[in-house]
Amino acid sequence: MRAVTWHGRDDVRVDTVPDPTIQDPTDVIVEITSSGICGSDLHLIEVMAPFMTVGDVMGHEPMGVVREVGAGVTELKAGDRVVVPFNISCGTCWMCSQGLQSQCETTQNREQGMGASLFGYTKLYGQVPGGQAEYLRVPFGNTLPIKVPEGPADDRFVYLSDVLPTAWQAVQYAAPPPGGTVLVLGLGPIGDMAARIATHLGYRVIASDVVPERIARARARGIEVIASTEQEEVVGAIREKTDGRGADAVIDAVGMEAHGSPGAKLAQKASALVPDAIMEKVMTVAGIDRLAAFNTAIEAVRRGGTVSLSGVYGGATDPVPLMRMFDKQIELRMGQANVWRWVPDILPLLTDADPLGVDDFATHRVPLEQAPQAYESFRQKQDGAVKVLLQP
Ligand SMILES: NC(=O)c1ccc[n+]([C@@H]2O[C@H](COP(=O)([O-])OP(=O)(O)OC[C@H]3O[C@@H](n4cnc5c(N)ncnc54)[C@H](O)[C@@H]3O)[C@@H](O)[C@H]2O)c1
Ligand SMILES: [Zn+2]
Ligand SMILES: [Zn+2]
Repeated sequence: MRAVTWHGRDDVRVDTVPDPTIQDPTDVIVEITSSGICGSDLHLIEVMAPFMTVGDVMGHEPMGVVREVGAGVTELKAGDRVVVPFNISCGTCWMCSQGLQSQCETTQNREQGMGASLFGYTKLYGQVPGGQAEYLRVPFGNTLPIKVPEGPADDRFVYLSDVLPTAWQAVQYAAPPPGGTVLVLGLGPIGDMAARIATHLGYRVIASDVVPERIARARARGIEVIASTEQEEVVGAIREKTDGRGADAVIDAVGMEAHGSPGAKLAQKASALVPDAIMEKVMTVAGIDRLAAFNTAIEAVRRGGTVSLSGVYGGATDPVPLMRMFDKQIELRMGQANVWRWVPDILPLLTDADPLGVDDFATHRVPLEQAPQAYESFRQKQDGAVKVLLQP
């Protein structure tokens, strides 16, 4: 089959790789019809490159049609339409039963000290082949895939794999008081969707980014935007809009590739020159200063408010402003989204009325073969690329 494979920093290609096969009785094979490119994929071709291997199949936002089921699969049959969550979770262990699917005890990567495996996502998370491909092997066929109805185009459901539950969790973890103010940092797919969800739930939403078409998309849906990512400007503007206090809650939908972290660019450069084994240590033990968005969040939240991190960070000794956080009495919540935890809340919103605007959320739908160009436009934020769906 054809699949998007990792070849190095800023280097993804479409290669022919072996077709996946049923390995366990509860596996299913899904023929992929749509597969998103995510901001998390950009980390893999930038700072997380040391944890990747040439030939790794990328992608963790797929949906498609079941083509084959293992002998132990009772809940799905060939022909069923499914979305595949990016967490590989069993659905039955203690963590899964608490709604903490990103910490699934069946797929936790204990030798790496990391949580549940993820599709298409580094050695740290199990190095499991991903879904930017013609076919995907999906384990836990009775509990993991989300069965969705026939009828609407893939756009209606595909974001259940990641964007919708991640943005939903971001807002739930932000937990502003009723009618409170939420500042969303970053208007990529995650921040954009979090802003839509928070608006839908009745909060006052203010967002920050500098990419013109991302700002325009948010404004078109009535979201207030601070067109800056400079900490002083963002903090000044948010205080002005909130009687000098700051936002009740801040959602960081940026992560470690933030503008304004000089350390991040240096680290990326270094990671291109320094042997992978050393860079792995730097990333997991030492850490590097790429906390621009996080620091803005800490400053922009009001005293006693909540910071909700969706953006992915790495590094153990990045200088977190603990004194400031303690003094401001900030509540901090974060993590990979627990996809299944939120699916029942989100499904009722995926109707013809389309309150979250999923039907035209994608800016680009391109054949799998064009993945390298699509990655490039998304990374460079060119050609109006906000959300790209690959269609094998
Ligand atoms: N927690 C999860 O489960 C989960 C799931 C999906 C994605 N993510 C993470 O969420 C983050 C966003 O993903 P995305 O797909 O929207 O990516 P993206 O890279 O398209 O979006 C990031 C946006 O942040 C803006 N930005 C950069 N620096 C900023 C700053 N200092 N202040 C405000 N805005 C700034 C950029 O201009 C860009 O528009 C990534 O870190 C990704 O890895 C987490
Ligand atoms: Zn994703
Ligand atoms: Zn589990």
